[in-house]
Amino acid sequence: MTTSGLGNKVVIVTGAAAGIGRATAMRFARERCRVAAWDVVGNAAEMESALRQEGGEAVFRKTDVTDVSDIEQGVRQVISKWGRIDVLINNAGILRDSQLVKWKDGAVAGVMSDEAFDAVVAVNLKGVFNCTRAVVPQMIRGGGGVIVNASSVVGLYGNFGQTNYAATKAGVIAFTQTWSRELGKHNIRVNAVAPGFIATAMVGTIPPKVVQEMLAHTPLGRMGKPEEVAEVYAWLASDAASFVNGTVISVDGGLVLGT
Ligand code: NAI
Repeated sequence: MTTSGLGNKVVIVTGAAAGIGRATAMRFARERCRVAAWDVVGNAAEMESALRQEGGEAVFRKTDVTDVSDIEQGVRQVISKWGRIDVLINNAGILRDSQLVKWKDGAVAGVMSDEAFDAVVAVNLKGVFNCTRAVVPQMIRGGGGVIVNASSVVGLYGNFGQTNYAATKAGVIAFTQTWSRELGKHNIRVNAVAPGFIATAMVGTIPPKVVQEMLAHTPLGRMGKPEEVAEVYAWLASDAASFVNGTVISVDGGLVLGT
């Protein structure tokens, strides 16, 4: 299936080496997009060849979304190679879970560390800000664009053990709403996707008991696949979604309803 108006678009996907990001980069490549895949890990030759096999042009670059000068170099590389940027998928994200205060046997048994708080904010929140600020001038010059941010169901209703993560995912929704107001006049649409439980390495770090509880609250009774989120990214980036702006789309098998 081809998705309206995506062919030839220049797309940046952050956190593209694994999970949802990799599936998303592949999905755009299948539309014959020109895909810049950014991540802090990954093998450039393997990634570029996989993307080309799907039908797209591709460049993989080790790019850290917390590093402003690294991002600027990445943007320059994309512009010198393809001359424009049409789509930015702010997908990179990390978890560092722990309770705010863990209380056991009448005493503090642990707290969320500054390191855990700051690391998650740096990637999931500031990283989205860094990449979007660097890319928007190129989109304005090019006559428009689409930005899609990775939120999460936990950004909508919070989650035990995820003070840092949930706050960043709620913050990303506030970015989405603010930027859609600011950038609409430049023909730039900004939306967010709020996945539920998706089978990736990230979910592998969550205790099995918690996963079982989340599945029990998911009306479809299963985890999602990275490709099912990638499909929504592709649709939001396409002309089929030309009047969709400033919104959050849940891709969660009904988890929010089942809560
Ligand atoms: P993942 O852990 O499989 O992949 C994330 C990728 O981001 C990794 O390749 C990692 O190297 C990269 N990354 C981490 N720090 C980076 C940095 N500083 N700069 C550039 N890249 C960096 O994660 P997954 O599951 O594919 O998640 C993707 C996005 O979707 C994340 O933002 C996550 O918070 C969000 N999400 C995932 C859900 C899930 O159930 N898997 C649910 C809701 C949201």
